[in-house]
Amino acid sequence: MSGSHRAAQRKVDRQMHPDLSPTLPVIPEVCAELWASAARVLDANWVGDHTVPSRTLYPHQWSWDTAFTAIGLAYVNQPRAWRDLRSLFAAQWPDGRVPHIAFDPDTPEEAYFPGPRFWNVPAYAGRPARSSTGLVQPPLHALAAWEVYRHAAAHGADAVQQARIELDRLYPRLVAQQEYLGDRRDAGGGGLASIVHPWESGLDDSPAWDEALAAVPADPGLLDRHPRRDLALSDAAHRPTDTDHARYVGLVLDYQAGEYSDTGLAERHAFVVECPGFNAVLATAELALAQIAGVLGRPSEARRHRERARDVTAAIGRRLWNPETRTFHARDVRTGRLSPAHCVSGLLPLMLPDLEPDQVDGILAELRSERFGLPAPSHDRTAREFDTHRYSRGPVWINVNWLLRRGLLVHGRRDEAEELRRRLVRLVHRNGHFEYFHPEEGGGLGTSAFSWTAALCLDLLADRSAPAYARAA
Ligand code: SER
Repeated sequence: MSGSHRAAQRKVDRQMHPDLSPTLPVIPEVCAELWASAARVLDANWVGDHTVPSRTLYPHQWSWDTAFTAIGLAYVNQPRAWRDLRSLFAAQWPDGRVPHIAFDPDTPEEAYFPGPRFWNVPAYAGRPARSSTGLVQPPLHALAAWEVYRHAAAHGADAVQQARIELDRLYPRLVAQQEYLGDRRDAGGGGLASIVHPWESGLDDSPAWDEALAAVPADPGLLDRHPRRDLALSDAAHRPTDTDHARYVGLVLDYQAGEYSDTGLAERHAFVVECPGFNAVLATAELALAQIAGVLGRPSEARRHRERARDVTAAIGRRLWNPETRTFHARDVRTGRLSPAHCVSGLLPLMLPDLEPDQVDGILAELRSERFGLPAPSHDRTAREFDTHRYSRGPVWINVNWLLRRGLLVHGRRDEAEELRRRLVRLVHRNGHFEYFHPEEGGGLGTSAFSWTAALCLDLLADRSAPAYARAA
């Protein structure tokens, strides 16, 4: 860190509660306790063939949660990590999309809204084995599969052999997932995938969508007809507002009315947005697929995946970078406008090894500025709409910080990556495996005993060294 960066970080630190700021070593007792509690959360959330994110608030299988969970299970239970991924891909659609929720047939409809009856996914040829939603989430599964494989050797020769079998089985499914996103979801025609609903981003109520969502009608009558279930299980101040929720329900009904088709999206769907975080994961998935194709002895496919990663990286740089703010912003495909908000999703392209050096510098400056700091909140601390409690409008999320840490390692910022690792470990050790955390005081928010927080703690505790990430060269 340079002197000015250190000063900026100190300034951010002063605004923070001790849980979030001091550089304290992670002591072995902390590690042992946290490891044991994380493994207990994952055991408690295992329901026989998949892990639920939370027994109460999220009682089905979520897409990118499964990827994060597998990354942690890689250390403690390899068979379960593979089983989790296999279960999710059993819900993959014939067009390649991997749904954002795969429903558990043993969970009653009333346990979660919107449940399978609401989604009413039409019957189609080759219907998958599990019922699901029609939306997607960031395609982190290739990276998860690669990470599980990478750790198989620690579990013996049988685990390695099994991991190769699993990779072989998953590879065509992962490729189909990328093709769906790269082809059918390129609504803007510029080489990026669009999301058609805020839920697809994994950052549901992020201010990144505020401008695009303002044009989407919020019909309060929809909430009378389709009452929220989440507010009975979590503090309303921690969850997206009713106005946003009415828009979420309306957007699903619109997409459903077109039978979840992606033809002509930009002309007929009210929310079509290119998210820098989603697309950074899309490019990262291509790099992971290149590694997987290498292990499977498919060098020409590996080359193609590296080219795809470079293409998506270049498209992110071209379409989502604002040279004035020197960070990445979401683009509303319908209007061509970049969102003015500074959100944590704009920092996630740091994961990409081939990002332009000037853009890497811009992200690092933003991360070290008073807007963010380590761990990064979900939204700009200096913004009017920053909200310390509400979901993706301010709180610290472990998964997003895990991705940022990866970005710091990709670009050789080992000291900051280590600092972030320690702060995240301390935050969860002090407060528990919460869904998200207060960005100033560090207290737990949302639901407790949350799977990806536990799973990523295992990785943070185990992974002290910067792995060598292949450049897309
Ligand atoms: N994240 C949304 C929820 O809170 C939908 O995936 O249920």
